[in-house]
Amino acid sequence: MTDEHTTADDGRSPSTANGTPATDGTARERRNGSSLFSAVPDAVSIYEVGPRDGLQNEKVVLPTDRKLELIEGAVDAGISRVEITSFVNPRWIPAMADHMDIASRVKRRPEVQYSALVPNLRGLDGASRAGMTEVAVFLAATDTHNRKNINKTTAEALETYRAVVDEALARGMKVRGYVSCVYGCPYEGTVALEKIKRVADSLLEMGVYELSLGDTIGVGTPRQIEYVSQGLLASGIDLNQIAVHFHDTRGTALANITVALQLGVRTVDSAIGGLGGCPYAPGASGNVATEDVVYMLQGMGIKTGVDLDRLVSISARLGGYLGRELPSKYLKAHLGHSARIGKVV
Ligand code: HMG
Ligand code: MG
Repeated sequence: MTDEHTTADDGRSPSTANGTPATDGTARERRNGSSLFSAVPDAVSIYEVGPRDGLQNEKVVLPTDRKLELIEGAVDAGISRVEITSFVNPRWIPAMADHMDIASRVKRRPEVQYSALVPNLRGLDGASRAGMTEVAVFLAATDTHNRKNINKTTAEALETYRAVVDEALARGMKVRGYVSCVYGCPYEGTVALEKIKRVADSLLEMGVYELSLGDTIGVGTPRQIEYVSQGLLASGIDLNQIAVHFHDTRGTALANITVALQLGVRTVDSAIGGLGGCPYAPGASGNVATEDVVYMLQGMGIKTGVDLDRLVSISARLGGYLGRELPSKYLKAHLGHSARIGKVV
């Protein structure tokens, strides 16, 4: 069931047999420009980070075949952009040690964008040899987080990435850029807007096509999202270049996404089941769950192209593989409802 509206009373997505919105407050109000939601886009691009951001921080390291099952299952459910692994040092992130296998073996579909994190030229070279056509570079707005996560200062990281982006573009690859710790740093606390702007501008100037603004430790709240986004837009960054990446550590991710949508943001990062975290950001927990985001967007009349039922059957299986209950609220509701009616998910 894809892109349908929801009534939320049975723990799963209901149908709208005649295709009309189940509730008001969606397309009609946007057309009239009469609601809080007048700038909300008609469609949102979900950028699935579960196989990378999610699995990099799970206690159980999934075997490569299971990871491939996850990636391919998410794509079958309608995910059209997915970060499949990271070409980082396996001594730093053991769970991503099978990056060559993942990127070489994944069954690619032409309409789907597969991406991988790279921290330097060595990572880029591996990604390119394994057939990646898109990579993502990543750094925080703060020096301390960068030292802990990539063993470089912000200036050193930017210098490294200049060479990485130059080389990737020369090879015909696309490059995405993450700015981490945008709403707070686990080591430095509050982060000045100027620092975020400096990193964002440098990445765009190098040629990254999109900036993912990371709430790495899940501390952001709605007014902060407005403040930072407006600040970046006011400095000339285009709305189409902004994606949001929320870890849901304190339960504010969906509220923050709503604000981003109200500002017109069209790309949302999320992880199936709510997997995830950054191993070098103490206390960081999972990314906002893809199911929860898709459920909310569908209820708001926003297209995602994702089939929620298919997605949730993958996350249900994934919880079993990882031996833990995944944090996605939609998944819990779905499993609860299925148990009540005796349905096997
Ligand atoms: P380093 O130790 O400074 O690297 O690590 P180096 O250049 O000095 O080399 C040391 C050794 O690492 C050498 O091997 C290199 O060959 C090897 P040795 O000679 O000792 O045997 N090496 C590599 N091996 C494999 N792949 C590579 C690579 N590069 C060097 N690409 C480095 C620097 C960046 C490599 C390291 O710090 C690292 O791998 N860090 C990864 C950190 C990471 O992945 N963190 C999680 C992702 S960030 C995140 O989750 C946030 C995000 O989701 C957004 C948000 O939430 O805000 C993106
Ligand atoms: Mg992250």
